[in-house]
Amino acid sequence: MATRLNPVGDASLLDRLRATRQLTLDLAAPLSDADATVQPFPDASPAKWHLAHTTWFFETFVLRDHVPGHRPFDDRFAYLFNSYYEGEGDRHPRPKRGMISRPSLDEVRAWRAYVDEALDRAFRDLPADATALVELGINHEQQHQELFLTDLLATFAENPMEPAYADLPAVSCHAPESLAFLGGRQGIVEVGASEGEFAFDCERPRHQQLLHPHAIANRPVTNGEWRQFIADGGYSTPTLWLSEGWDWTKREGITAPLYWRGEDNSFTLAGRRPLDWAAPVSHISYYEADAFARWAGARLPTEAEWESFAAWSDPNLGNQLDEGGAVLPRPPGDIFGDVWEWTGSAFLPYPGFNPAPGTVGEYNGKFMCGQFVLKGASCATPRGHSRASYRNFFPPHARWQFTGVRLAKDS
Ligand SMILES: [Fe+2]
Repeated sequence: MATRLNPVGDASLLDRLRATRQLTLDLAAPLSDADATVQPFPDASPAKWHLAHTTWFFETFVLRDHVPGHRPFDDRFAYLFNSYYEGEGDRHPRPKRGMISRPSLDEVRAWRAYVDEALDRAFRDLPADATALVELGINHEQQHQELFLTDLLATFAENPMEPAYADLPAVSCHAPESLAFLGGRQGIVEVGASEGEFAFDCERPRHQQLLHPHAIANRPVTNGEWRQFIADGGYSTPTLWLSEGWDWTKREGITAPLYWRGEDNSFTLAGRRPLDWAAPVSHISYYEADAFARWAGARLPTEAEWESFAAWSDPNLGNQLDEGGAVLPRPPGDIFGDVWEWTGSAFLPYPGFNPAPGTVGEYNGKFMCGQFVLKGASCATPRGHSRASYRNFFPPHARWQFTGVRLAKDS
């Protein structure tokens, strides 16, 4: 597979656009049309759909709205590949994305090339508000690159042949880094994104929050610690669980993280592999993270505690996605990288929150109900995408993302 580092920092917008569009193609290179068409469950999307939807985003919000004379590649695609934008009208039902065997993967690639050439031609003459939408489109596509990988993992996990998407080096034997709790900042702190740099609307405005005395773990919880939780009856002790979480474990038959297989294996993008006991535990729900923390005599960090803790770490370092290939959390677990970390904070608007104008204002604000914030980045997050103020969010039962947990305590 081609190696293409994702330019970060000072690379020009056009360079980053081209590199982002290319990385998506690289990620899809090992897939057959059949691989790319399967939808493993309604919340996950086929790989081909991700390639198409990210293209629809650019063709709709940049080319259609800001480039006079642009002719859409195919008028039928807007219905198929709009995700959830009510302002863009009717769309194909999400649970049926796996039924879209046509257009073929090659036709979707041809559409991508058509849109990429149109963006290239128009780029120099784009007005400022369209340039801002190109930036949003890049960040949107990076989010879908991560979803591409996690949805593909869910797809291959359904196949009894346990296919491998790509190779990974053999698991090495690491001793886990010893667990320590570090004192967090206290008093009034500022959180959220400052003006000037790209951030999603939900990260603003930057504002004050009050932090009480607390401490945060130096690394995320490991697979080895999770094994102890299981051995200690963690999944069969109702007093450890939120009521809703306990009902969920019973209803869904949950007894281990999502992709654990047998006593000491897990299913990964490189197929079935031995679990690395020193690596961060991954593919756990908010309910599981919360129960584990209670078992450990700790709690989840709040979003503001986590953000203050990470404020001085470089968000471009750590185990994150640089190129196409299999990805896996590794020891000891980076603050930015490996696994997204559940917080105990609901995904709610910050004081003074203003959704982006227009239909793209549907991006974040309308999901501020029933979801929890995750911070950091994962091994599947394109490098350069995240930052301390970043607010990932999922409902409490979701666990097909690379989700883990870092403990916190009152002190
Ligand atoms: Fe999207």
